[in-house]
Amino acid sequence: MNPPLKVLIAASEAVPFAKTGGLADVAGVLPRHLAQLGCDVRLVLPRYYRIDKAKLSLTRLPGVLSVFMGVLGNQYGAVYEGRMPGCDVPVYFIEHEGYFGRDGLYEVNGEAYADNDLRFTFFSKACLELCRLLDFSPDLIHVHDWHTAVIPVLLNTVYSRDPHVGRAASLLTVHNLQHQGWAFKGLMDVLGIGWKHFNYLELEMNDQVNLLKGGLYHATRICTVSEGYAREIQTPEYGEGLDGVLRDCAWKLSGILNGVDYSEWNPETDPHLAANYSAADLRGKARCKKDLQKLFGLPARPKVPLIGLVSRLVKQKGIDVLAAAMPRILSLDLQFVLVGNGEPWSHFYFGDIAIAHPQKFACFIGYDDVRAHKVEAGADFFLMPSRFEPCGLNQMYSLRYGTPPIVRATGGLDDSVENFEPATRRGTGFKFGDLTPGALFDTIGWAVHTYYNDPKGMAALIQNGMAQRFSWEEAARRYLELYLRTVAPRVGW
Ligand code: ADP
Ligand code: GLC
Repeated sequence: MNPPLKVLIAASEAVPFAKTGGLADVAGVLPRHLAQLGCDVRLVLPRYYRIDKAKLSLTRLPGVLSVFMGVLGNQYGAVYEGRMPGCDVPVYFIEHEGYFGRDGLYEVNGEAYADNDLRFTFFSKACLELCRLLDFSPDLIHVHDWHTAVIPVLLNTVYSRDPHVGRAASLLTVHNLQHQGWAFKGLMDVLGIGWKHFNYLELEMNDQVNLLKGGLYHATRICTVSEGYAREIQTPEYGEGLDGVLRDCAWKLSGILNGVDYSEWNPETDPHLAANYSAADLRGKARCKKDLQKLFGLPARPKVPLIGLVSRLVKQKGIDVLAAAMPRILSLDLQFVLVGNGEPWSHFYFGDIAIAHPQKFACFIGYDDVRAHKVEAGADFFLMPSRFEPCGLNQMYSLRYGTPPIVRATGGLDDSVENFEPATRRGTGFKFGDLTPGALFDTIGWAVHTYYNDPKGMAALIQNGMAQRFSWEEAARRYLELYLRTVAPRVGW
């Protein structure tokens, strides 16, 4: 029997420690499932200011990390160790007051920190130094998005002969191609790998450093969070300027749809709901709707279709198209609840609509987990008009909550939602292709029409969706298979 596969997961966020989006859900849940499959898996995160060492009972490891930051000289980090809740997976937190002793993860008041390139270069190098400190030799290092994308570059260059990580293979998961880690080319002097790697195949792009591009070139394998997005990013429309690079990498690129943490997202057990319910007994869902209407100050109308949306309010999510369609949407007899924050214009725009249409539209501008759960359960439809969506988690939650999603057919939304067919009553939601206010309005109109005029169709949609499962067990098994394929050429598995 082979010894357990040793995996280090390096991420910039993971639940329950730090979260701005779905990456945290993935990095926080995947390790637990990999451990169940027999991997020796460890997670490493920055110790952001808000991660409370005392509350989490983190223990300081002896020794310090000495990280070579090129022209900046050596910089030093401390390491704290904790455990993932509910399992034994070790989590290491890299502490550096200058880089991580701040309120935000990546930004403050909508402005990205100017030194994000240095912060995550430091973190990436610290992850490799950590292996030395722990005397841990991973078979594979799994990195996520631009923040840790430079790790594969380091592994193939200055760490290629390192006794601990020199033999490690690397897997880069792209959760979002839009963020690429652009930096002034002077970062090359900090990376300390030599200017010869500043070329059009590796780290150079438009005379700047692009950390994600370097990672794509150097990673042993690449994956994205749905098969659809893996195909899309090889096209100019979705490639964010890297489609050519990704086509060159097509041989090592694949997609694995994220799973859902059903211990948290399950209407039968969800503690945040006014009532629990199941596919067999949906009575609780009506109470959740009433509770949602009350919470948001909307009239308690049980028989009006209620559309919910929980999202970062940014262009990726098609919020601008929704804004343009809003006047027409509000001409229908429906209610709409929106929870989210992001681009400042949208806060004013949706805030004003709530004031102008108090009977129909309500919003909460901010991040609120409990409200997110209540919307999933209390709404009749869940809207995601994304411009692009690598995977998307909310549509999978909404299926489980009996709240058929209305989605743009892109990336993971297209992969996880099946379009409704009124004649056969098959399908789990409503999809549209063109990202235009007209197409969005028409599709909402179709859903509202179904709600009012086709009760059997609605009931079938709800049942079909609630029967779907996007299990992490399955996603983790696919990751393990990919890990084995990734390490095979390196360590002879
Ligand atoms: P992304 O990572 O691109 O934001 P996902 O659909 O993968 O999109 O994940 C979003 C996650 O963040 C979901 O768990 C969703 O419920 C949550 N979320 C987003 N915005 C909010 C908000 N304003 N309040 C509560 N949860 C939110
Ligand atoms: C990104 C994507 C989202 C995906 C999440 C987790 O934030 O925007 O679609 O679900 O990562 O992989």
